Amino acid sequence: MAYLVYKLLDPSGKIKGANLKRGEKLFYQNCRGCHNIDGRRINFTPLEAKPTYLGQRAREDMPTFWYQMNFGDESREGMEPFYDELTLDEMTDIAGYAQTLP
Ligand code: HEC
Repeated sequence: MAYLVYKLLDPSGKIKGANLKRGEKLFYQNCRGCHNIDGRRINFTPLEAKPTYLGQRAREDMPTFWYQMNFGDESREGMEPFYDELTLDEMTDIAGYAQTLP
C-alpha cells in the first residue's frame, strides 16, 4: 500500500496521471453525499482550532487519504471502504481531483 501510493505521487506529493474530469464525476457520485461538493462538510480535526478538510488532507497527506479511501475508518464511524467499489484508476482520479478542492 505505501509502495503503491508513493509510486503514484510525484516528489511534491501530487498524484500523477489523474484524469481530473473523471475524478470530479466520480467524486460527485461517491463522496459528495457525505463530504459535500467542496469536500468541506466534514472537519477532520474538530477538537483543534484550525479545521482540516478533504482537499487539505489530499494535498498534505496523501498516504492517509489513500488509506482511508481504501479501507474506511472503523474507529470513526461513517467512512466506508472503497477498495471493492472503485478501480485503481478511478481512485487515482478521485485522489487527484481531491487535491484541487479548497
Ligand atoms: C457515508 C458517508 C461517506 C461517504 C460516502 C464518504 N465518506 Fe469519507 N468520511 C466520512 C466520515 C464520517 C469520515 C470521518 C470524519 C471524522 O470523524 O473525522 C470520513 C473520513 C474520510 C477521510 C479521512 C480524512 C482524515 O484524514 O481523517 C478521507 C480521506 C475520506 N473520508 C475520503 C472519502 C472519499 C475519497 C470518498 C469517496 C470515494 C468518501 N470519503 C466517501 C463519510 C463518508
